[in-house]
Amino acid sequence: MDYKYMAEPYKIKMVEPIAVTTREQREEALKKAGYNTFLLDSEDVYIDLLTDSGTNAMSDNQWAGLMLGDEAYAGSKNFKHLQEAVRELYGFKHVVPTHQGRGAENLLSQIMIKPGDYVPGNMYFTTTRAHQELNGATFRDIIIDEAHDPQNEHPFKGNIDLRKLQDLIDEVGAEKIPYICLAVTVNLAGGQPVAMSNIKDVYALAQKHNIKVMMDATRCVENACFIKQREPGYAHKTIKEIVREMFSYSDGCTMSGKKDGIVNIGGFLALNDDDLYQKATSLVVVYEGMPSYGGMTGRDMEALARGMYESMDYHFISHRLDQVKYLGDRLMAAGIPIVKPVGGHAIFLDAKAFYPQIPQDEFPAQMLAAQLYLQSGVRSMERGIISAGRDKDGNHHYPKLELVRLTIPRRVYTYSHLDVVADSVIDLYKEREKVKGLRFVYEPPVLRFFTARFEPIK
Ligand code: F0G
Repeated sequence: MDYKYMAEPYKIKMVEPIAVTTREQREEALKKAGYNTFLLDSEDVYIDLLTDSGTNAMSDNQWAGLMLGDEAYAGSKNFKHLQEAVRELYGFKHVVPTHQGRGAENLLSQIMIKPGDYVPGNMYFTTTRAHQELNGATFRDIIIDEAHDPQNEHPFKGNIDLRKLQDLIDEVGAEKIPYICLAVTVNLAGGQPVAMSNIKDVYALAQKHNIKVMMDATRCVENACFIKQREPGYAHKTIKEIVREMFSYSDGCTMSGKKDGIVNIGGFLALNDDDLYQKATSLVVVYEGMPSYGGMTGRDMEALARGMYESMDYHFISHRLDQVKYLGDRLMAAGIPIVKPVGGHAIFLDAKAFYPQIPQDEFPAQMLAAQLYLQSGVRSMERGIISAGRDKDGNHHYPKLELVRLTIPRRVYTYSHLDVVADSVIDLYKEREKVKGLRFVYEPPVLRFFTARFEPIK
């Protein structure tokens, strides 16, 4: 069957009502939240695009799996199922369950990093870099330059620049680089994928210098689908085959099951090396739990194992990418400035281009997220100057990208919901000239985006 956007490959058997509010109610709620979408109550939100993390809808098969939880303190059979899923689908020998992705990042950073080391990566993710730095490493961004340009249409904008990697090896020496952190896809670049050829080249160069490659597997299925759709030679391969091949060029991975595991909580560290696994198991008992459950219940491990198998279905993942693309296409057709090409999990609005009259230190992206909520009850997330924070001298970091992220949860919303989002953004764009910025009422000292409060500049 020929279609431009794939229809939902599932039908609805249970529903969760969501709040339909009036503009007056939203004005009230936004004021109460200090113009910060992180501080809104979920029950005041109509369409929640804050994140795709842990906001997935599980299948009937996963819910059935919850009833089969084996909550033994040790040797749960659900752990065995998770182990089978990781071995069969990702190809790693060992798995250490953790409460979510950052739990795995904590273990990996502690067992591999020595103070003074360098960890290169294709752009950073906040928690990943924080764990590397907490263990004494310096992070180096070795993503291709194209990733920093919102208008560049490179099909694999998550790729690593091999020259930047070689330069770092020449500069600090391979013995100071415990591993390369390779994210598939790259969240903060806009959900951009990495090509198989690039993954292969990175692994070859790393092996030559005896450096390990550790994947951030959080959105690996999205990455595999982009490879199938865009990279020559992969159109006829299954998602399962592509995922296996991707991981065959690595030594392990950290995984947030809350994304491509299609669950609400959970994650793991996967490894091939026996010694590293031994080290990880001696740490996991301190931070998470026994090595056969880590931070998870038996039922949660069962749901994750089942979710991992479901995620290999081409219809599941191509529908997901089509939903994101649909929203992107509608916005681009109306001339709305967004990050291109459209990535795997979200649309990123370019707030600098949307509200050019608002100086960056009057927070255009924060204001755009607030206006979108006010207009239609859609919740999004600022990814700009507020998220970037201040430097040691107390001055704002001024990031190049001043963005609002519209993140699509898996299997939760329909194309009709995305029409509401698109119509609302388009309406706001028509009235963009009238809008002014925000100023702080309260600014917390760290990770200010979570709890800061603002008021509009009159
Ligand atoms: N790596 C990536 C690429 C992520 O996007 C996230 C989480 C993590 C690691 C950490 O995983 O949340 O399970 O501990 N991203 C969420 C987001 C929070 O909204 O993008 P976690």
